[in-house]
Amino acid sequence: MTAPSLPPLSLYIHIPWCVAKCPYCDFHSLPRRGALPEGVYVRAVLDDLDQSLGALRGREIQTIFFGGGTPSLFSGAAVGDILSGVGRRATLAPDCEITLEANPGTVDSSRFLAFREAGVTRLSLGVQSLHTPSLRRLGRIHDAREARDAMEAAAGAGFSSFNIDLMYGLPDQTPGQAAADVRAALAVDPPHLSLYELTIEAHTAFARDPPALPSEDLRTAIEDAITQAADAAGYERYEVSAYARPGYRCAHNLNYWQFGDYLGLGAGAHSKLTGGAAVARITRIADPVRYMEGPDRIASRRLLATQDVIFEFLLNALRLTEGFPRDLLRARTGHDFGDLEPLWSRAIARGLLAREDETMRATPLGRRFLDGLLAGVLADLETAGAPTAVEQ
Ligand SMILES: C[S@@+](CC[C@H](N)C(=O)[O-])C[C@H]1O[C@@H](n2cnc3c(N)ncnc32)[C@H](O)[C@@H]1O
Ligand code: SF4
Repeated sequence: MTAPSLPPLSLYIHIPWCVAKCPYCDFHSLPRRGALPEGVYVRAVLDDLDQSLGALRGREIQTIFFGGGTPSLFSGAAVGDILSGVGRRATLAPDCEITLEANPGTVDSSRFLAFREAGVTRLSLGVQSLHTPSLRRLGRIHDAREARDAMEAAAGAGFSSFNIDLMYGLPDQTPGQAAADVRAALAVDPPHLSLYELTIEAHTAFARDPPALPSEDLRTAIEDAITQAADAAGYERYEVSAYARPGYRCAHNLNYWQFGDYLGLGAGAHSKLTGGAAVARITRIADPVRYMEGPDRIASRRLLATQDVIFEFLLNALRLTEGFPRDLLRARTGHDFGDLEPLWSRAIARGLLAREDETMRATPLGRRFLDGLLAGVLADLETAGAPTAVEQ
């Protein structure tokens, strides 16, 4: 084993407020009460960045992502203040992709233009469905007409790219309805599409009072229908949930899936940073009031054990249709294919992984059962007795 090398670095900025909490959502977000403390939050994020510059050691930032919560609740001016503050403190790659998540219930053309003028290059719109009864079941604040208006505004606002999020496997949904949702989203020709299967997350309103979901067989038929609809329109499924036109993959998410580094700023944000031979996971204080007060904003910091580094690498990289090359495994984890031979041969024998010379990827069966596959990988790593601490 060698030390992992320094991977590309991204910046994530978390905006922890929404208009209302959706019943399925376990992202860190709180319903907004009154006006948002934009100015105080912007200063806290930049102060947080000042305190983190040592950990960045002058590395160039490849991508920036404003996630939430609902970042589109912030004004273009506040987003611009964050971006110019980041630009004064750190070096951005010349082609830095800057994405902002927007909720169709919180936007209009003028707001989109203000985000673009602030420096945002890519918008990600949480449409979820274009079927009003489904949107109501999901507790969304917008209906199908508002979703269409927002999609058209996003398409016309002049961003380099934009993404539309849809959810599928919804209560009472049929394969035909799900495919109709995809085709309705494709009407505005988005360069990128994210199709997420509705999952019931712990500690959500849906976990307390679960809706009746389509049967397993029906969910498989729905997934086949939406994949075919995207494929027929020329979108490549390059990750479990991500589809893109050629040249429009999301660089920020690709960096996550390729186990790159990211600094997460904002209440409840997570970071993954490589330093020396160690990989650290760091979490910011979740309570926005305490986060804004500072001065210390770190809630937890933990070094990953060797088997966690391998497991987390696989958890991310096996989501990619193309899988990962041997060089990437070595660069990110310090391990070679040969170090994990028993694990590969078992998964290949079960038809879950496929190896082509220098590349390992999940088969369609492996991707469908990725959770089970990875639970098996973790058990294998533990019984193989991989070292429990990263060498310093
Ligand atoms: C942080 S939200 C996106 C931005 C914005 N807050 C919104 O909802 O419009 C990220 C995306 O994750 C997806 N998502 C959230 N919770 C989910 C769940 N339980 N199952 C499937 N997808 C989910 C939704 O598609 C959502 O748009
Ligand atoms: S799905 Fe989006 S709008 Fe709904 S609670 Fe989660 S982050 Fe907020």
